[in-house]
Amino acid sequence: MNIGIDKIAFYTPEYVLDLVTLAKARGDEPDKYTIGIGQDEQAVIPNDEDVVTMGANAARQIVDDQERKTIDMVIFATESGIDNSKSSAIYVQKLLQLSEFVRTIELKQACYAGTFGLMQARDYVAAHPDKRVLVIASDIARYGLATAGEVTQGAGAVAMIVATNPNITLINDDSVYMSREVADFWRPVDRTEALVDGHLSTEVYKEMFLTLWQRYKNQTKHSLNDFTGFAFHLPYTKMGKKALDQIILEADEAQQKRLLNNLIASQQFSRHVGNLYTGSVYLSLLSLLSHSKDLKPGEKVAIFSYGSGAEAELYSMTLQPDFRSSIPAASVAKQLSERQQVSVAQYEKIFQSQLLDSHVDVIRSATKKHHFQFLGWQNGERQY
Ligand code: HMG
Repeated sequence: MNIGIDKIAFYTPEYVLDLVTLAKARGDEPDKYTIGIGQDEQAVIPNDEDVVTMGANAARQIVDDQERKTIDMVIFATESGIDNSKSSAIYVQKLLQLSEFVRTIELKQACYAGTFGLMQARDYVAAHPDKRVLVIASDIARYGLATAGEVTQGAGAVAMIVATNPNITLINDDSVYMSREVADFWRPVDRTEALVDGHLSTEVYKEMFLTLWQRYKNQTKHSLNDFTGFAFHLPYTKMGKKALDQIILEADEAQQKRLLNNLIASQQFSRHVGNLYTGSVYLSLLSLLSHSKDLKPGEKVAIFSYGSGAEAELYSMTLQPDFRSSIPAASVAKQLSERQQVSVAQYEKIFQSQLLDSHVDVIRSATKKHHFQFLGWQNGERQY
């Protein structure tokens, strides 16, 4: 059965921080950030946004009146959830005015949960071919001011509709996956910033990719020459290169060049947004499909999803005949270029104010016409 991504959309907040400016403020070489890490800018999340608003602001771009009638399930992947009990998906169901007769659920396993959500959606549609599933991956990557992880912060959401006969890609049933308890990155429930062993996390990511690549080749009998490109989970863009460099010599010379050019295509959006955690690998896919000139319908791209803790999955997607006209390349580029630059002082002030949020009841008025906003607290519950 042909099942896959029929629609995709991306949303990131309106504030952005230039990382050359941040490097100078931290006393670091700007080239370390832009070349060594591979990040030029990072999203800064304002006080009126969270994973619910970002997820709903992404999804609203692909949920029209027709879709409202057909979506049967909302899967919300995040590791920056706003409530320890209630799912972010149920807020999205209300904000998007979806039918009450839908299933809504939130999933967590670090950056990996978006892929689990996509696989659940595919399997559900395989069992119920007339149904359509909304999958949202929304996160805020926060490590703390002047930490080693600061340059890899970011925020945003990717929303996708999974259905039969999709317009963009087929999700192939060829996954290999693995889980292993590792203390590379975690976030205790009373903290808004992650704790991380950054160098260990990079090594575990590389090792899991290599292990799954060998397993994938054994299982599918595919080789590197069978893929047009890779979409990697990109906590920072250099991470994708570190992973691919481990296997690139398996390809012939022309194919090596093609894969490396398409890696650059897949890194473009993340360079200007930072880590999206659950959404990152699908922003990398969207960037590849938006920027690569040599992708053709019928070709396969490999998807590598990694979530610290740690769990990883490698699988492929097949490009559909009309994929180019279904990709919101221009609107994502416009969204990124229209953001407002903030100074390091403004970014630090916003960051600190979020740490100090006292959850005291106060409701602000909505100020934006075409966006969902977080307005404040009432009875200890977030209001939108
Ligand atoms: P660091 O110690 O500040 O940086 O941490 P470094 O000293 O390792 O330098 C980074 C790179 O810059 C190196 O290149 C340097 O050589 C280079 P590499 O050897 O790695 O190729 N460099 C320069 N290049 C050009 N000009 C210069 C210069 N100076 C140095 N002047 C680290 C970096 C990424 C570890 C840190 O930012 C961090 O801890 N980040 C957060 C953790 C992370 O992103 N881990 C990635 C894998 S885990 C993952 O993907 C899961 C995750 O998304 C969470 C989840 O699943 O929920 C994080």
